[in-house]
Amino acid sequence: MNTNVSTGVDAFRPVLVTGASRGIGAATARAFARRGHPVVMTARDTKALKDVAESIKSSGGTAHIMPADLSGNAKANRFVDKLLRAHPGLCCVVLNAGLAVHGSVVDRDPASFMDEFEVNYFAPVTIARFVAAHWQSQSSRATAARRNSIIAVSSLTATVPFPGHANYGASKAALNQMLRNLRIELASSGSGQGTHVGIVLPGYTETAMTAELESSLPGSSPVFIAESIWDCFERRLDEVVPGLDNKVAAGLFRIFPSVSDKILKAGAGFLVPRPGKKSQA
Ligand SMILES: NC(=O)c1ccc[n+]([C@@H]2O[C@H](COP(=O)([O-])OP(=O)(O)OC[C@H]3O[C@@H](n4cnc5c(N)ncnc54)[C@H](OP(=O)(O)O)[C@@H]3O)[C@@H](O)[C@H]2O)c1
Repeated sequence: MNTNVSTGVDAFRPVLVTGASRGIGAATARAFARRGHPVVMTARDTKALKDVAESIKSSGGTAHIMPADLSGNAKANRFVDKLLRAHPGLCCVVLNAGLAVHGSVVDRDPASFMDEFEVNYFAPVTIARFVAAHWQSQSSRATAARRNSIIAVSSLTATVPFPGHANYGASKAALNQMLRNLRIELASSGSGQGTHVGIVLPGYTETAMTAELESSLPGSSPVFIAESIWDCFERRLDEVVPGLDNKVAAGLFRIFPSVSDKILKAGAGFLVPRPGKKSQA
């Protein structure tokens, strides 16, 4: 893993990280800042954002905060408009902010289904299409196309069934499909060709999101996922599943879905993190 400064031709252009107040987002902001990129961080918790920004600055990095609620199209639209006015030279957006409501399909209140889609699907899609249009208008004016990236932090639950996370997985699967199409559309349009669209699919990771879950298997650390996000950006990878165990699970499900279903039906209680004693769900 390259831990030096960014080697891209557009090193030192700013990077947006959503959901940067804690967990994977905070670790990702630190990973990009360490490589020399100014980071623009957003989330709702201003105090937590300031703390992460201070820790980046005290390590010699550059960090800006733009607190915002990113649930749904309208709020995301207002945010990204403000963002691009303040940071028109942005080279990457890491769409990391996410919401998981744990509970079985039968027990969940369907009213909460939309909450997950607002944060996990509608807001990132709005930001992605807004920045893609911004970059397209820039590249039609510039003499050489610049390298830009949209990276979504999706989830293994988008491809492999995780009991207790059905609607969450569905929201991430919808995001994946939208971004895969955006990737093709940009690649086939003259002005969008410099834009990379990457999707990172972490498995169980130990953060506040999973603090209420019990797991028989160890989770990844946010720092490990952040390095995979950096790798996705630096190497312009289409899709990254961090960790060998998760790669095996994703590959098995893709090639042998019925075998994977059988394994999950028999062993979901052991294999999949589940609401634990601390859970309010
Ligand atoms: N942990 C896992 O096992 C796991 C596995 C696969 C994928 N992921 C994905 O990884 C990403 C980061 O998750 P994490 O594990 O680091 O969880 P986390 O610690 O709960 O962090 C979630 C982040 O999203 C922000 N956020 C949530 N709702 C928001 C809203 N309405 N507006 C703006 N920001 C909002 C939160 O900030 P505020 O509360 O301050 O707004 C926080 O910074 C998510 O997309 C998640 O789906 C996580």
